[in-house]
Amino acid sequence: MKFFVDTAEIAEIKDLAETGLLDGVTTNPSLIAKSGRNILEVIAEICDIVPGPVSAEVAATDFDTMLKEGRKLAAIAKNVAVKVPLTVDGLKTCRVLANEGRQVNVTLCFSANQALLAAKAGAAFVSPFVGRLDDIGEDGMLLIEDIVQIYDQYDALKTEVLAASIRGPGHVLAAAKAGAHVATIPPNVIRQLYAHPLTDKGLAAFLSDWSKTGQSIL
Ligand code: E4P
Repeated sequence: MKFFVDTAEIAEIKDLAETGLLDGVTTNPSLIAKSGRNILEVIAEICDIVPGPVSAEVAATDFDTMLKEGRKLAAIAKNVAVKVPLTVDGLKTCRVLANEGRQVNVTLCFSANQALLAAKAGAAFVSPFVGRLDDIGEDGMLLIEDIVQIYDQYDALKTEVLAASIRGPGHVLAAAKAGAHVATIPPNVIRQLYAHPLTDKGLAAFLSDWSKTGQSIL
């Protein structure tokens, strides 16, 4: 499963990119607003740091303006994935941009039927929002499982399932078990994935025993 980071904070992206484990980045209008940055500038900077897909979301809701915005975002760098909402106009925009050879990430997906439409519209990624479904008492991970199962049955559907709205390590594990192609994960959750108390305890014991040997490897 590929790991994308879900943020527009440059310092976080640089730090995580240095691990060599980052496959891409997703942003949305809320994350851009939180960064306090101009969208065109911050997306260009992120694309320089991470060679993988960098999702940049349109802000319009009508087809004509969405398409213009999508083309402008796509022109920033080759690795921009234009993000459009799962609406009729969003999917029309997806179809045109996909035909032009652009990667499109269809976002705000909350049902398997919506995901089927996104795939038929030529999306490179569909983003089902796991955490927001959990928030309203549904099981968001069941949606990931359903979409993976549906896509697996049709060779013609090339869309990758991008588990979004991830809230903790449990979501990452469940998305991987469900066969999601990608998870977009907040920076703090990516860092939590490294942690286990037995790793810390075991390392402390190894270092203590090693110090008693008086040896040095270098
Ligand atoms: C990413 O593409 C989504 O916009 C993001 O994961 C949404 O996460 P949230 O529900 O925590 O805002």
